[in-house]
Amino acid sequence: MQKPMDEAGWQAGEKERKLRIPRHVAIIMDGNGRWAQARRLPRFAGHKAGVETVRSVVEHSVKLGVEVLTLFAFSSENWRRPRKEVDLLMDLFLLALEREVRRLRRNDVRLRVIGDRSAFSQKLQARIAEAEQTTADCRTLTLQIAANYGGRWDIVHAARALAQRVNEGTLDANDIDETLVGEALTTSGLPDPDLFIRTGGEQRLSNFLLWQSAYAELYLTSVLWPDFNVTAYEQALQSFSLRQRRFGRTTEQVLADSISSGSD
Ligand code: IPE
Ligand code: IPE
Ligand code: MG
Repeated sequence: MQKPMDEAGWQAGEKERKLRIPRHVAIIMDGNGRWAQARRLPRFAGHKAGVETVRSVVEHSVKLGVEVLTLFAFSSENWRRPRKEVDLLMDLFLLALEREVRRLRRNDVRLRVIGDRSAFSQKLQARIAEAEQTTADCRTLTLQIAANYGGRWDIVHAARALAQRVNEGTLDANDIDETLVGEALTTSGLPDPDLFIRTGGEQRLSNFLLWQSAYAELYLTSVLWPDFNVTAYEQALQSFSLRQRRFGRTTEQVLADSISSGSD
């Protein structure tokens, strides 16, 4: 179902609209609490409304041909919240998994949960494994939910796995390079994020995909996550389309390359 992509990353049909679709979009879904507070509702109402936004962003990503969508749902630091909010978030995660899996499958979406799931209840861990299994052969979009995830945790986890191989004598420490580290991370095998969106107005990374976002284009918006509708998403994509990604090169080099590959 994937649309063909030319060398410069333009998808068939999109070139005319001048919308360059990122292969991987990563989003810090922030602002649920403030959305609820502005309506004099409990914070939890914001989280519930946020689930609706997840559904619409997932479906729009499928429609546009985004390959990977990574959503930050719960950080390794979010355990510091009041116990009641943490419990409600866990319940909501469980409920959303149960409710959405069939729809994900129908939309050909493969679900992966990244993060340290060992801290979750047995029931939640079982549901996660089940949902991943049910959607394992889906191909149009890979949806990664980052839950109990921290970018530093991801790197530590990778370092430990590589050290283990060195200990066992199956890896020479001098052979450790960026590719091997990348392959030891939870996002192994997937392209790095091209577009990194944060809703809710804060201007920080909050320990999300630290290694993987080394060259991601940042899009920070004050729109609160429950209000992040298709129009707001399109605006982020539009902004991404207008960026010139240089990866260390000069503008002249980038332009010369795009002329020779016929992408502009
Ligand atoms: C993001 O919304 C969702 C989670 C962190 C689970 P917040 O709950 O952080 O919303 P604000 O930042 O308080 O508005
Ligand atoms: C980041 O949001 C984590 C998620 C969206 C899941 P937070 O609201 O927890 O971030 P900080 O604590 O304000 O940086
Ligand atoms: Mg927040």
